[in-house]
Amino acid sequence: MKFSCFSMLPFLLVVLILSMIGATLAVSHGKFLHCLQFCSSNSSTISKVIYTQNNPFYSSVLNASIQNTRFTTPSTPKPLVIVAALQISHIQSTIFCSKKHGLQIRIRSGGHDFEGLSYVSEVPFVILDLLNFRAVKVDVKNEFAWVESGATLGELYYGIASKTTTLAFPAGVCHTVGVGGHFSGGGYGILMRKYGLAADHVMDAQLIDVNGRILDRKSMGKICFGPFVEAEETHLGLFSLGK
Ligand SMILES: Cc1cc2nc3c(=O)[nH]c(=O)nc-3n(C[C@H](O)[C@H](O)[C@H](O)COP(=O)(O)OP(=O)(O)OC[C@H]3O[C@@H](n4cnc5c(N)ncnc54)[C@H](O)[C@@H]3O)c2cc1C
Ligand SMILES: *[C@@H]1O[C@H](CO)[C@@H](O)[C@H](O)[C@H]1NC(C)=O
Ligand SMILES: *[C@@H]1O[C@H](CO)[C@@H](O)[C@H](O)[C@H]1NC(C)=O
Repeated sequence: MKFSCFSMLPFLLVVLILSMIGATLAVSHGKFLHCLQFCSSNSSTISKVIYTQNNPFYSSVLNASIQNTRFTTPSTPKPLVIVAALQISHIQSTIFCSKKHGLQIRIRSGGHDFEGLSYVSEVPFVILDLLNFRAVKVDVKNEFAWVESGATLGELYYGIASKTTTLAFPAGVCHTVGVGGHFSGGGYGILMRKYGLAADHVMDAQLIDVNGRILDRKSMGKICFGPFVEAEETHLGLFSLGK
């Protein structure tokens, strides 16, 4: 009898510890959501971009850019919340609130990370999904373009090709790869021998730092230019195919 009592002890501890973790998670996640609503200068729009686990679209938004099915199993850790930002203020609020309430942020652009780092974490986390940030603006006359982080390489190439037949940008081969992860990792492709990496042609970038400040090449200075935090938009130097 005595023996079986002792053997119960570890089990009870496990149950207690688990339920305590459960409670803390619920609290921080609730506070996080409250913070998002409260902080956002545009609280009517932020509620439209928040996907909690009981939202009927949660699973399809999560799956939308998971490119490696090894990370779509039921046992893969899931985000507490997905914020599919539509405006810069949504990104700033997500950074501020996750820092305040101790949740990790995973930033996702094209979701091609080989290890699922943009949407899987071992600690409680939220996904900041940049899938709605995908504009491509090409300035043919001045030979540059602005591209948002969530655009794919295919969308970038298409955007350039639909404006000009003499300018191009050197980056990867696979057209579904996202600009955000690709440029921050270098980005090589078939034009590499002559023109180098995608990152070599990045002239400017709009970043949001951990304090929610919007920075660019001018505000950081050329020397500071380089390390990516959350790149919103990237200013690219296009090159002329004739030259
Ligand atoms: C099928 C396939 C083909 C590929 N082909 C090529 C190729 O031809 N050439 C080549 O160089 N590489 C290639 N890659 C590798 C690819 O460039 C990298 O996996 C890249 O990181 C993917 O970027 P993403 O935005 O799609 O991925 P994501 O999974 O969204 O992001 C990748 C990483 O970058 C981080 N990140 C993304 N956006 C931001 C942001 N805005 N701010 C801060 N962090 C951010 C994420 O958190 C994550 O850690 C290929 C990969 C695959 C799966
Ligand atoms: C608030 O959202 C609306 C609708 O998307 C947008 O038109 C407006 O510019 C936003 N206001 C601010 C301050 O971001
Ligand atoms: C997302 O993927 C998982 C695993 O493959 C699957 O069980 C789930 O039904 C998918 N959700 C949607 C909406 O497709």
